[in-house]
Amino acid sequence: MESVFKADILKGKVALVTGGGSGICFEIALQFGKHGAAVGIMGRRKHALDAAVDVLRSQGIRAIGVEGDVRKQEDAAKVVESTVKNFGKLDILVNGAAGNFLVAAEDLSLNGFKTVLDIDTIGTYNMSHEAFKYLKKGGPGKGSTTGGLILNISATLHYTTAWYQIHVCAAKAAIDSMTRSLALEWGTDHDIRVNGIAPGPIKDTPGIQKLLPEELKYRAGDNMIVERAGEKWDIGMAALYIASDAGKFINGTTLIVDGGYWISRPRRVSKEVVRQISRSVEKKSREPPFGSPSSKL
Ligand code: COA
Repeated sequence: MESVFKADILKGKVALVTGGGSGICFEIALQFGKHGAAVGIMGRRKHALDAAVDVLRSQGIRAIGVEGDVRKQEDAAKVVESTVKNFGKLDILVNGAAGNFLVAAEDLSLNGFKTVLDIDTIGTYNMSHEAFKYLKKGGPGKGSTTGGLILNISATLHYTTAWYQIHVCAAKAAIDSMTRSLALEWGTDHDIRVNGIAPGPIKDTPGIQKLLPEELKYRAGDNMIVERAGEKWDIGMAALYIASDAGKFINGTTLIVDGGYWISRPRRVSKEVVRQISRSVEKKSREPPFGSPSSKL
């Protein structure tokens, strides 16, 4: 689908998108690039990053891919520095890297819980903290009057809560909270806007493949059917709105983009079905092109 925005609304901006090798975050990188920004994308899988960068460059977008794990401070610093080295500054950080799998609370190990908190919550903090000196008003390559933007990709799962998602609900609730804390501190003192987008189910993404895999659709009958799944485009347009001058007065807000889906009741499927399929779905998610380098599965 074509954009509803003019092609130059992010002209001259530099964005770094974590998790930008696939799914929603690739779409955000693509839309930012199509609207004038240079983009760095960060991820753990080199082959996914390379493929994504090829697509971005084929559209005439100035793009680089930098391997790294948002959980690691040295990786966060390296990726931020590489982006600034390549493009001269940093205006926008999109914290999109996330981890997820379906699991009943009593089957979730401490390490499983911690892993998702580490990727989503610690990763968001880590990247934001490393990017701060470049995003703040007067930071390298920036004017003395304008600060940058942090855009945190959250979820709607924790608004009503969701079955078999205790780890993700906790992680995303913390991200929404950090959005407000950083907006208060960095917005007030350093002119950095900090906002979020909470997407609902979005078609053709690794996220929906994890949470609504074919195996579950088949086993759960109509119970898990998502009546209102959005397009990646919907999230791309929301991100553009917040990142452009149209969003210059928006700070400390998480924009829900889900067609109103979160208001309806959480869907339940049998715990036994989740027990049977979740680990095989996880294994499948690591096969190329979605594969992840390390796994204890
Ligand atoms: N059910 C129960 N526990 C699971 C699980 C599942 N389906 N999948 C992983 N785990 C547990 C592991 O058993 C391990 O715990 P343990 O050490 O107590 O056994 C823990 O989670 C960490 O797994 P590991 O494979 O070491 O982590 P990783 O860092 O390689 O991968 C994940 C992190 C598990 C979040 C992986 O899904 C990932 O990389 N996700 C990124 C992509 C993604 O999820 N995208 C969708 C975003 S919405």
